[in-house]
Amino acid sequence: MHEFDFVDRAQSNGEKYVLRSKLFGNDEVIPMWVADMDIATPACVMDAVRHRLDHPVVGYEIMRERAYDAQCEWVERHHGWPMRSEWLSYSPSVVASIGCAIRAFSEEGDEVIVQSPVYPPFYDMVRSNNRRLVLNPLTQNGSGEYRVDLEDLRAKITPKTKLLFLCSPHNPVGRVWSREELIALGNLCLQNGIVIISDEIHSDIVFPPNIHLPLASLSPEIGENTVTLLGPGKTFNMAGFSISTVAISSQGLRERYRAQQHKVHFGEGAVLSHVAFEAAYAQGEVWHAALINHLRANRDMIEQWCRLHPIIGFRKPQGSYLAWLDCRALKMGDRELRDFFVMEAGLGLSAGLSFGKEGSLFMRLNFAVAHEILERALEQLSQALKRNGHG
Ligand SMILES: Cc1ncc(COP(=O)(O)O)c(C=O)c1O
Repeated sequence: MHEFDFVDRAQSNGEKYVLRSKLFGNDEVIPMWVADMDIATPACVMDAVRHRLDHPVVGYEIMRERAYDAQCEWVERHHGWPMRSEWLSYSPSVVASIGCAIRAFSEEGDEVIVQSPVYPPFYDMVRSNNRRLVLNPLTQNGSGEYRVDLEDLRAKITPKTKLLFLCSPHNPVGRVWSREELIALGNLCLQNGIVIISDEIHSDIVFPPNIHLPLASLSPEIGENTVTLLGPGKTFNMAGFSISTVAISSQGLRERYRAQQHKVHFGEGAVLSHVAFEAAYAQGEVWHAALINHLRANRDMIEQWCRLHPIIGFRKPQGSYLAWLDCRALKMGDRELRDFFVMEAGLGLSAGLSFGKEGSLFMRLNFAVAHEILERALEQLSQALKRNGHG
């Protein structure tokens, strides 16, 4: 089997597959929603886990220093940020880290800024922790590129604003933020005493010539005001190992964060995850380079398809394996649009509206699949459009 061939995940209880009937009303749709890949996890990760299972005891274990070092070396090699292992805390999930960060750095009733449209748990975590959600919607320039609206942000800051969530690269719009944008945002938050929670889980899926810049690397002051969330889940398709890290260079913020994490007893996680994490960062380089080529070819396939079907608006994502399809020209409502994708095209995508109201009439397509699956999905969409008079 070639590294990026089709893998059947229906039998292994893959969420993207087993929830199809519940979400889309049938089991036939090609599932292109949850942000994991229908691509085999790297052999170096699986081999390391198998090897660990040769030992007869799976007890409580702690993360080895070597594992954290492997992640630091990866981050420095790929993103030029000399992240240090003593800044890191283990976390079972980036979303769980967001919950802890909210509690560590704000009080009930405080305001948290979220840049919509965005990964839905950002909203849920603010609301379920009884903080006030303040939206700073992204804007689109004339050519459809999404930008941070600094003026709107400035106008929305109050003495109760304590946190801003940055999604970098951005899910779902696919932006890899530029140095200028990040510095402007970082400085504005710094001047107003707002801690930035920078979710960089998609940072290793970036297409040249774009480069991911860790927010915390941009100046010592911004670094001291940033909580960076990182993990191998997206990069190496190993979300099921439930392991990620939180990098905080400021001692004060780190202590506050860790005190909160202690209260919910994250502990050190599971030994097989430790092993998988270390193998991925230490040995995953060649696999990762091939992955980026594979995903880039898929992204370009979508772009070519959209050129032939201009009714669907598309800007190539600079990062992530998520295509943000602008379906406004189809002149359907959100419900109708979703039904069209499911019933006419046989595709299970994420509805744009689920990322916030700015996502209305968009659909998010996860293209981390084998080439032939993407070809089939696009062909099904072509046929559906043709039948609806958009051929
Ligand atoms: C921006 C972003 N953050 C976090 C997550 C989930 O991270 P975890 O599974 O570690 O909670 C996702 C998954 O799609 C994501 O897109």
